[in-house]
Amino acid sequence: MKILLFGGSFDPPHRGHISILKSAVQYADFDRIIVVPTGTPTHKKSCTAPFDVRMYMSQTAFGDIAANVEISDWEGTNMQDDYTYLTLQHLKEEYDNADIYMVIGSDSLFTLDSWKNADFVMNNCTALVFAREDELEDDIAAKAQKLEAMGAKIEFVKAEIISVSSSQFRREGEKNADIITDEVQNIVDEYSLYSVDETARLKGTAKLLAKLLLDEKRYIHTLNVEKLAAELGEIHGIDVEKLRIAALLHDIMKNAPKDILLHRAKQSGIINKIEDKPKQTLHGFAAADYAMRELGITDEEILWAVKSHTCGRSGMQDIEKVIYLADMLCEERCFDGKDYLLSLAKQNLDKAMFASLEHSLAFVKSKGNTVDTDSLEALEYFRARLARNL
Ligand SMILES: [Fe+2]
Ligand SMILES: [Fe+2]
Repeated sequence: MKILLFGGSFDPPHRGHISILKSAVQYADFDRIIVVPTGTPTHKKSCTAPFDVRMYMSQTAFGDIAANVEISDWEGTNMQDDYTYLTLQHLKEEYDNADIYMVIGSDSLFTLDSWKNADFVMNNCTALVFAREDELEDDIAAKAQKLEAMGAKIEFVKAEIISVSSSQFRREGEKNADIITDEVQNIVDEYSLYSVDETARLKGTAKLLAKLLLDEKRYIHTLNVEKLAAELGEIHGIDVEKLRIAALLHDIMKNAPKDILLHRAKQSGIINKIEDKPKQTLHGFAAADYAMRELGITDEEILWAVKSHTCGRSGMQDIEKVIYLADMLCEERCFDGKDYLLSLAKQNLDKAMFASLEHSLAFVKSKGNTVDTDSLEALEYFRARLARNL
């Protein structure tokens, strides 16, 4: 089996990527063409768009190039660092020791022997080097010869390369409309994915993520939470934009596979004894980790609002209270006493929190489920706050 591997951050995928992939596809008769967007590194945020958004844009940009093109989520979901040798190892295992051709630019040829486990990379794929017509100069040939002596298999593809880059797009944005296709541009515009206005970018990106990652029922719930959170924010004079971002992200891990949910919850750094937490509370902690690592959100108020939305906590700030209440009292929720709690939420957040926590704890106990200690502490916190204000 012959596989073509095309990796990149695709932040966003542009016309240059598309022309390279089209040339590569014609280079040989490949059984599979696998596009691999790089994951988000654990130690630093290097991409503007989160992995899931880059996957979506890649699907839009490359999905129609050939019938056997697939966009792989492997680097974004494997919970390891993204090294090419690991991706090759994975593809070798998955596709029965297939013959892999890996697309690289001529600039990468000069660094290939310094990649992590370079020997493995050079021995387990053929590097398909894309160089411009005028670029096959002596130094490239000399470098290739040196790498071949080390065991690398290198083939050159002469192609008309469209000289644009993702960083150029991020810098120039709408000033240079020719860098990306209309389809990708529509996504970028609709969700303000690269807007210089940070709030607009985070809000738009969070909305697209909710649409991509949640089932329809959960997506509608998320929009309802956003709506009520904004309404309560207006009433109580709380930052509505922060509330919208927190609301859009609060359940973002709700449909995540169990292993990723646990991995992210552990990474959130807030759960010391993860085994003591009721399972239904973990998605908030995982969502905060996602918001921090994938969107680069550092605002503690937003992160805490996402973390504490299922269980509350002692010392909750106003944004947390609003998200907790909006989650519990939004449009599609239906239970006895909801109207009373909602009217309380519009009058006094502390009173509403106390009454809502009492209601939730009674419900959890009636079902025989584990009561979260954070919720009990939150209840006592609001009891004490209200007693002081009397
Ligand atoms: Fe939730
Ligand atoms: Fe929710």
